[in-house]
Amino acid sequence: MKAVALTVLSVSTLAFGLAPKSDVEKIADRIDSPLQKAFENIWDGKFGVSRLPRKGPHIANPANGKGLLSAEDSIQWRARLFLAGNKTKKLGKGSFELRYAGNLSYDKGQKSEEEYRKAVADRPSEDALKKLIERNFGSEKPMKLDEWTVVSRPIRSLGEACTKCHTESGDKDALGYLIYTFKKQS
Ligand code: HEC
Repeated sequence: MKAVALTVLSVSTLAFGLAPKSDVEKIADRIDSPLQKAFENIWDGKFGVSRLPRKGPHIANPANGKGLLSAEDSIQWRARLFLAGNKTKKLGKGSFELRYAGNLSYDKGQKSEEEYRKAVADRPSEDALKKLIERNFGSEKPMKLDEWTVVSRPIRSLGEACTKCHTESGDKDALGYLIYTFKKQS
């Protein structure tokens, strides 16, 4: 009976496209809302990737300057952030640039300095990642790139406050994508 119930559940979740979220999607969702805040107000004359607060190679939480991943997630995952955008031009397939933004996992764990430096430097190739995003432009579903899992989240226009400079885009259009990449720490 239990098996039947489980089958029915998985068939219905598939049918409605509500497949349970993977761990990395849950982490991406958790850190995406604080990161989106960096793009919500124009108060300091910084644009694009320079709006993300950083500490050395790390991207910090715009709200409090602290790490975005929990210590537990930092130990488990290498997490790197990229930004896809087209400056103030309309964003679309074939018309975006991809830039490395920084490291999202802070925790050094038990690693030696050298191991830690190597771990921090480990990230997907920008060319390969750009091709993957290009092929799946606009998709928010997890994608695979070698040992990395890639999850994109749009940064949307909030209307007039954004379109006065992003003149080719309409209200709610994606002005950029935060691209989260995750790999299990070895
Ligand atoms: C005063 C003009 C101005 C306003 C207002 C503005 N932006 Fe921008 N934005 C820019 C410029 C210039 C860039 C390109 C920065 C660069 O050189 O990478 C940019 C880049 C971006 C990017 C990254 C894309 C990329 O290619 O780097 C995003 C995302 C973005 N803006 C979101 C927003 C949002 C959301 C708003 C509204 C809340 C907004 N912007 C309002 C001028 C503006």
